[in-house]
Amino acid sequence: VFVVGTGTSYNSSLYADRLSLQLKLKHVRSVVSSEMEHFENLLDQETLVILLSQSGETADTIAAARIAQEKKAKLWALVNFPMSSLARMCGGVLPICCGPELAVAATKSYTAQLALITKLLYGSAGLAEEGNRMLLDARSALYDLMSNAARDHVMKLAKDLRGERDIFLLGRGLQNVTAREAALKLKEVAGMRAEAFYTGEMKHGPLALVGEGTRVMFFYSPQDQKHAENAASELAARGARIYSFGVNPLSTSIWHVRTDDIGKGLPMIQVVPVQVLSYEIAKMRNMDPDKPRNLAKSITVR
Ligand code: M6R
Repeated sequence: VFVVGTGTSYNSSLYADRLSLQLKLKHVRSVVSSEMEHFENLLDQETLVILLSQSGETADTIAAARIAQEKKAKLWALVNFPMSSLARMCGGVLPICCGPELAVAATKSYTAQLALITKLLYGSAGLAEEGNRMLLDARSALYDLMSNAARDHVMKLAKDLRGERDIFLLGRGLQNVTAREAALKLKEVAGMRAEAFYTGEMKHGPLALVGEGTRVMFFYSPQDQKHAENAASELAARGARIYSFGVNPLSTSIWHVRTDDIGKGLPMIQVVPVQVLSYEIAKMRNMDPDKPRNLAKSITVR
């Protein structure tokens, strides 16, 4: 099974890839739409290609679908618009039903894509009930994260970060997916140079850029707490300012955003405070959070 998408939809495909490993589903692999031709030799009539796209009109993803179609692979579209060009090319359509998304940045469609992927993969692993329970937990956690108190907390963080140009975002496994998606939101909405890495990769190069006052965000699950703790201490010792997003704070964090422990589905909720943060920073910088510079809602040319 190949799960294909671009931008935020690619990050959703990475969630499918990482979650399938956790659920011992061995044959799910994520691909960036524009790289599909490099996977051509692995496609045949036994392959299922799931194309992720909010709009269903993204040229790179439609081109990836054509490549898979020529190889006679089975095609499913996981889209917000069931009548879109992409959906009409595919034998199966999985609608995410999150309502029209008007701002350029993909936000609610990301959560909805992750929710549907969760349902699909837990169902495939014979764990449908467990998956459904986790989705209900995610729903109540999201209400907490959108409460006035939670938003005030993020607003204060936005004031702290509003003047910053660069920031690193770290996570491992499923939480690396959140680091990537959060970095994309900070880039396009808040105009920050936000770079995501695997937590363990930091010392293999990017560390050279860390010094007094470098901002670093950590995303971690309770299982990864110790790993994050060690990496954060190393960075804090070099003067980095640590922002933690997890169930419990890191001992070196100067700011903590608490998320409930909902298990493997953590990426469904952990990115939301950063979506709000990006929006608040954009407003503080007099940028239009709905219409980032140089971007369109769907990229319909290659
Ligand atoms: O409509 P799609 O999901 O196919 O769009 C893919 C990307 O262009 C899109 O996710 C883009 O990265 C967003 N602006 C991210 O917020």
